[in-house]
Amino acid sequence: MKVFFWSLCLSFFIGSLEALAVSKQVKLGDISYYVPGVPELTVDVGMMSSLFGTLESSFLFPLTVFGYSGNLDYSTIESVSKNFSCSDDVYSDYFLETIMVQSPNVGVVSYSNCSLSTLNVSTIISLGGSALPNGPYFASYLDGQLSVYKAYRLYADAYGAFQAGIVPSDENAESFMALPAGVEVAHAQTIAVPSKLYYTVTEEQPLAGYRVGVKDLYDIAGTKTGGASRKYYELYDEAALTCPSVQRLIDMGAVIVGKLKLTQFANGGNPTANYVDYHAPFNPRGDGYQSPSSSSCGSGAAEAAYDWLDFTVGSDTGCSVRCPAGSQGLYGLRPSFDAISLDGVIPMNDLMDTAGYFSRDPSLFKVFGETWYGENKNISTSYTSFPKTVYTFAFEEGDSDFIESGASSEALALFNTFVSNVVSFVNGSNAKLDIYSKYEQDTGSSLANVFNNTWYGLAGFYQYVNIWERFSKDYQEASNGDIPFMDPIPKFRWEWAYNNLTQDGYDRCVEQKWQFDDWWNANVTSTNPQTCSSSLYIFLSNDGSTAYRNVYNSAPNADGFSAFSEMYISSFARTPEAIVPLGEVAYNSTITLTEKYLPVTAAIGAAPGCDFMVLDLIEQMGRANLIGGVATGQKLFP
Ligand SMILES: *[C@@H]1O[C@H](CO)[C@@H](O)[C@H](O)[C@H]1NC(C)=O
Ligand SMILES: *[C@@H]1O[C@H](CO)[C@@H](O)[C@H](O)[C@H]1NC(C)=O
Ligand SMILES: *[C@@H]1O[C@H](CO)[C@@H](O)[C@H](O)[C@H]1NC(C)=O
Ligand SMILES: *[C@@H]1O[C@H](CO)[C@@H](O)[C@H](O)[C@H]1NC(C)=O
Ligand SMILES: *[C@@H]1O[C@H](CO)[C@@H](O)[C@H](O)[C@H]1NC(C)=O
Ligand SMILES: *[C@@H]1O[C@H](CO)[C@@H](O)[C@H](O)[C@H]1NC(C)=O
Ligand SMILES: *[C@@H]1O[C@H](CO)[C@@H](O)[C@H](O)[C@H]1NC(C)=O
Ligand SMILES: *[C@@H]1O[C@H](CO)[C@@H](O)[C@H](O)[C@H]1NC(C)=O
Ligand SMILES: *[C@@H]1O[C@H](CO)[C@@H](O)[C@H](O)[C@H]1NC(C)=O
Repeated sequence: MKVFFWSLCLSFFIGSLEALAVSKQVKLGDISYYVPGVPELTVDVGMMSSLFGTLESSFLFPLTVFGYSGNLDYSTIESVSKNFSCSDDVYSDYFLETIMVQSPNVGVVSYSNCSLSTLNVSTIISLGGSALPNGPYFASYLDGQLSVYKAYRLYADAYGAFQAGIVPSDENAESFMALPAGVEVAHAQTIAVPSKLYYTVTEEQPLAGYRVGVKDLYDIAGTKTGGASRKYYELYDEAALTCPSVQRLIDMGAVIVGKLKLTQFANGGNPTANYVDYHAPFNPRGDGYQSPSSSSCGSGAAEAAYDWLDFTVGSDTGCSVRCPAGSQGLYGLRPSFDAISLDGVIPMNDLMDTAGYFSRDPSLFKVFGETWYGENKNISTSYTSFPKTVYTFAFEEGDSDFIESGASSEALALFNTFVSNVVSFVNGSNAKLDIYSKYEQDTGSSLANVFNNTWYGLAGFYQYVNIWERFSKDYQEASNGDIPFMDPIPKFRWEWAYNNLTQDGYDRCVEQKWQFDDWWNANVTSTNPQTCSSSLYIFLSNDGSTAYRNVYNSAPNADGFSAFSEMYISSFARTPEAIVPLGEVAYNSTITLTEKYLPVTAAIGAAPGCDFMVLDLIEQMGRANLIGGVATGQKLFP
């Protein structure tokens, strides 16, 4: 058995450094591991019994821990090893070199043939009690003391989705730090994940052991919040506190593994022209050279790329969860406005910002949302059935406000099948909503007025006042009057909103938002005690068309700031909207010159506060095999 050290723990040699916690990176076979500086457990030799072989002094060796009573034989160890291998990507048989059985009464039978077998067990010790959860660990045995450390497997972020890998701080249990380890990967990060075997899902901790990446807009104690701006990252210190929304995930058992890329300050952006400060993450779908969409681009790319990651957190003000969920073919939720606190999160607009997330699986999609927003009493849990009215939008051929109007027949067929599946699942009916004419009939005014610059005005002006004014002043003070660089899209939007729209224009945008909100929630998705929402609404959110990342984009401009988009409904009307992957459509890639596939997704929304009803519907339709989980990699449904 060979353990390769990349760095040694000096504190073992030098007395004066003994208080230092020095983490290590080691390799077993082909896999690299991170070993934290602080042990989970330290015990004296007198507390342990040796059952097989002898423990020899060593700086670091792999160790498997499990609870067992009775006689331990080869087949038991084989069974433990199989069970661990099946449920955990950190464990490997190398960890069997030393076994620590947690039990006061365990014996070993006929172990002498073990070193001849494929399981190379050299030492078995036992320790009473159950001080540690089962699983793979690293240990050191020095001066009669055994110290046991967690094992974290290191993964390369080959899709460039992360801004940083983070791990619990060695100095402060409430805090995190940048991962002090790395594996070979070009121009990208290394991410460390602890063994899944340490965690048990319980009613109190439904997210125990699930690995989560977080968009780099959310404060996590001990790490910097960069907002995808190099100058912002340089200027400000590490966050002192973890924001309440991420703290809630940690309290529910989630394992936070890193900060994910975004477009700057959550403004949109297309690769590669708009990504000046940082390179765009790679969307793994199709030919691998499609836009990851924005603004939660890293959250979408990582969730679609990595099996070792369970959920990613994004934020959605205009489409920032829903659009990347579409481009990457994922489940994604923009929750009801005010679903959870956004304190400690860089804002876009305080009337539209939401904390959303991504998942690959319809059941886990529900578990995460119900757990994350579970404290919010405004989200209903008391509905007894699903709404029976299922709206889809009426549109005219070629009306580019509606994605449906430009979609291929294959994408439309997937969408229409989904609509009829939802309709029959809820025993309801499909009604066409002509949003322009209904708005005019109900209110006597035009929807075009309501959407006129509204979203861009709300976001741009708010960020100018709430980010730029402070950031530029702080930066100038710190840098002899230099103005900090801004990526082209936020720079254009902020200046446009502040200089051309002005405070009056902003105030008008706020009124326009509320006009739409009042109308929608009175006349389209009103609340209802039995069904939570009087109706559901569904639209095609991604039609599987290409968005190559090597396209030369034109400079930012205000064209389109006043257009209606289905994506703004939830932004203005506070409704929860979930993205559901439906299938894939083929295209001939201009990059690979072969046939590839891109995702088709639908958005499904309901009245504010009906998040759990929507998640329930999706989970139940998943169990009925009407929709399904998606894979990582090129294809959703390989
Ligand atoms: C391994 O898992 C199987 C199935 O869950 C279980 O029956 C068996 O007892 C486990 N083996 C050990 C050694 O824990
Ligand atoms: C066990 O030892 C054999 C013989 O040295 C070796 O070929 C094998 O790779 C080892 N297996 C593990 C899991 O360490
Ligand atoms: C080791 O011994 C056990 C118990 O006698 C037996 O079941 C097992 O097959 C043996 N393993 C090998 C590899 O010989
Ligand atoms: C819930 O609704 C109440 C009343 O409308 C509101 O004051 C409160 O901010 C809402 N949000 C949460 C998270 O409770
Ligand atoms: C729809 O109707 C069928 C047959 O009446 C019933 O079995 C089913 O539970 C209903 N489903 C819902 C979601 O109400
Ligand atoms: C949009 O607002 C601008 C003022 O910001 C106004 O000049 C223009 O006429 C409005 N357009 C529509 C369609 O209401
Ligand atoms: C802002 O207003 C100025 C002066 O009216 C005009 O020249 C410029 O084109 C406007 N910029 C945008 C982005 O609308
Ligand atoms: C809803 O529609 C009704 C009837 O068309 C209309 O009288 C009412 O003003 C509308 N409500 C809102 C808030 O727009
Ligand atoms: C891709 O090109 C091949 C060869 O020209 C053609 O047969 C196929 O239909 C094309 N596929 C798509 C999805 O356009």
